[in-house]
Amino acid sequence: MNILISHTHAQSAKRWHEEMLMLLPNASVKVWPDVEQGWADYAIGWQPPKELFISQNKLKAFFSAAAGVDHLLKNPALPKGLPIIRLEDAGMGLQMAEYCLLEVGRQYHRRDDYLAQQHAQTWGFLKSEKRSEYVVGIFGAGVLAKEIVKGLTSFGYRSQTYSRSSTQALADFLSTSRVLILCAPLTPETQDYFNAERFAMLPKGAYVINVARGGLVVDDDLLAAMDSGHLSGATLDVFREEPLPKTHRFWLHPKIRMTPHVSAVTLIGPSTKQVAMKLDRYSKGEPITGLVDRKKGY
Ligand code: GLV
Repeated sequence: MNILISHTHAQSAKRWHEEMLMLLPNASVKVWPDVEQGWADYAIGWQPPKELFISQNKLKAFFSAAAGVDHLLKNPALPKGLPIIRLEDAGMGLQMAEYCLLEVGRQYHRRDDYLAQQHAQTWGFLKSEKRSEYVVGIFGAGVLAKEIVKGLTSFGYRSQTYSRSSTQALADFLSTSRVLILCAPLTPETQDYFNAERFAMLPKGAYVINVARGGLVVDDDLLAAMDSGHLSGATLDVFREEPLPKTHRFWLHPKIRMTPHVSAVTLIGPSTKQVAMKLDRYSKGEPITGLVDRKKGY
């Protein structure tokens, strides 16, 4: 079988190439764009250019080197019926759980208040609320959200998740979430979901963490909710445009903590193993998980 790798980072493409050759010794593996037209049976990648789909017109499936496939589904040359398989966890869940725990812990333990005290050279104990009354809401219920819940539970936090199949009403979910973690795919349904109306449903002083995609949040509405004092702040790892434009108000906003899309990076080791295993099974007609439902968008 002929496998084509396409990655925006040359170094990552090289690693995927080496690993796939090792894991599937009977396969031929090439790196885009060094490939003849119509050569590949399967392609693996992150943000492939549209030329790849035009040139590789015999693809049987595309394996995403990321969990989120929103970029891929927006590719204008993506063939309509081409099966897409996304990464499932592959070491991302634990990273995301740690990232969220750090941020939740910082809020719960009032670390910003302690920092202010430090700068005022004040020594004083600040009371935290009962953990059992401090509910963290996770918008999303996939494999990554489940790892976040696991992490929070192991530290004694209460959590609740919300997804399209939830029976809990959205208003109830939001109004009881002291911290709201966004961990859902970007789809037509979730695009701009967190707007002024939905931020207003959160309790006063709530904190928002976005580890999903920037498109879930209406930036101006988030800023307004913080500026009015309704929200206490936000930790943002993802943005509508990445890298975030230099002129964006998020950069210097005192209530925003930002990281450059690093809450869960694709780990080449577990990811290549997962994709090789799925490729092998798929090519033999055996069932695999992670097949993207184009209608749902994930
Ligand atoms: C990263 O954002 C991913 O979707 O894996």
